[in-house]
Amino acid sequence: MKKELLADKQVVAVVCNQWGDTGKGKLVDLLSEWADYIVRGTGGANAGHTIVVNDKKFAFHLIPSGILYDNLGKINVIGRGVAFDPKILIEEIYILEKNGLQVHNLLISHEAPLVLPYHLLFDRYSDRSEKVGTTGRGIGPLYSDYVSRNSLFVNDLLNPEIFKEKLTKYVESKRIILNSMNKEVAEKILSHKHLLNGFFFNKDTIIDFDKVVDLYTKEYSEKLRPFIENTSKVVKQARKNGSKILLEGAQGTLLSIDYGTTKYQTSSDCAIEGLAKGCGLKEKDVDYVFGITKAFFMTRVGNGPFPTELGGKKSEEYCDSSQTKNDEETNYANKLEEMLHSNDEFEKGIAIRMQGNEYGATTGRTRRVGWLDLVALKYAMQINGPNLTLTKVDVLTGLDKIKICTDYTYQGKEIDYAGRSLKTGSTIKEFPRFSEILYNCEPVYEEFPGWTEDITKIKNYGNLPENFKKIISFIEEYTGGSIDVISVGPEREQTIFR
Ligand code: GDP
Ligand code: IMO
Ligand code: MG
Repeated sequence: MKKELLADKQVVAVVCNQWGDTGKGKLVDLLSEWADYIVRGTGGANAGHTIVVNDKKFAFHLIPSGILYDNLGKINVIGRGVAFDPKILIEEIYILEKNGLQVHNLLISHEAPLVLPYHLLFDRYSDRSEKVGTTGRGIGPLYSDYVSRNSLFVNDLLNPEIFKEKLTKYVESKRIILNSMNKEVAEKILSHKHLLNGFFFNKDTIIDFDKVVDLYTKEYSEKLRPFIENTSKVVKQARKNGSKILLEGAQGTLLSIDYGTTKYQTSSDCAIEGLAKGCGLKEKDVDYVFGITKAFFMTRVGNGPFPTELGGKKSEEYCDSSQTKNDEETNYANKLEEMLHSNDEFEKGIAIRMQGNEYGATTGRTRRVGWLDLVALKYAMQINGPNLTLTKVDVLTGLDKIKICTDYTYQGKEIDYAGRSLKTGSTIKEFPRFSEILYNCEPVYEEFPGWTEDITKIKNYGNLPENFKKIISFIEEYTGGSIDVISVGPEREQTIFR
């Protein structure tokens, strides 16, 4: 790793400028060599962060991506902003142990809100009509309980009486909702392995209160007790002491509850402010933000507007129809090359997805694929800052031309927007986060010739193809940002520091 970029930094953050899955896990793992503390502050097990070390793949959901450095004494922290699901963490620790990695230096915030089985059920049940396409990890229902002051916390795991008392109160209102559910649908959801095949539910009492209390306050509590801490205090102190701190973002700014594309969002602020707060720090404490940006394409998993999607609505519907990686391999592997050069954008999208292995690390879903959108990127940079880390740039090698979106043309009905009239046919240069507008935005593109050279082994910026560097200059000029890091493959060493 090039040390200059980090030489004068103490707190750095990895944040996604798009809709997630941009390679945050890879960057965090790489930067963990430098850091003393690696801290997650937002989201929960909806995240899927993939790390590849010597061809071996790890996919983490809740545990910070610095965990592979636990044996070097690096401290991994699950901060106060995280939607904490004890079952998932215990599974992750178990998988690490099976791989010969013991977890010693993990800290879990005593203040993190606790995911309970009914959150998973509500999430899956309510995401059927007007579908967002959630990950089904209970995130929305848990954060809803948090803001309506009905959530339990990690600290409650340690106090069975308090846990019981709170759950008794909260569970009554849950029973009313559960009672009104379509039983057949609910039972089908309950049979899912994440809900332990209905273990916590019971035909007569609906939620099996005793089983929840037992498992959470005995088994989970016993396993996790050694890790539970006031992590905000620890992280603040570490900063005072001069330790190096790496904040690991989850999701992406365009999914943020505060900044994302309305309705089709997650339920925490996964941009820099939310991340810092969820880690126990402030945004001003962060010395440098790695604004992770997939290039020169981008992806979105789940529903919602995506102006530059290759194949548009057809692609959104196709990806929503339970296509899997296996289906695509069976159907298209023999014509991948032809599809990559196809003039049909829907086909090209499938080929880029296959080339980039764009299938969800958490749900296995096909990720929707589109061209890089600079209107959206500029918006995210206003929130997260000017420093960009481009990832997955190797995926488009061999394409004749690369399209980059610079503006939108509004094609919807005339409406009022931010106190002004938005007319059909008008040009939009500033990202409107309202989905009803974005769904009616047609991208305007600038086209660039591609490159054919294999770039996956290049170590120095100067050795990248000229056509590639022209696109880099264009993005920097257009956004006013600085592309400081370029990732040319999933492995640690496939990273160029400029
Ligand atoms: P995250 O959620 O942001 O951590 O990203 P994911 O792990 O969900 O998805 C990123 C995927 O791209 C993972 O499979 C990574 O191993 C892989 N990846 C990361 N950086 C690169 C890169 O530069 N090139 C390629 N080809 N793959 C990458
Ligand atoms: P990482 O950290 C990509 C998306 C879901 C859905 C919406 C709401 O791996 O980048 P939720 O389960 O959070 O209520 O789902 O947000 N989503 C992600 N998309 N990467 C993620 O995390 C995501 N986490 C949530 O697909 O559209
Ligand atoms: Mg991911």
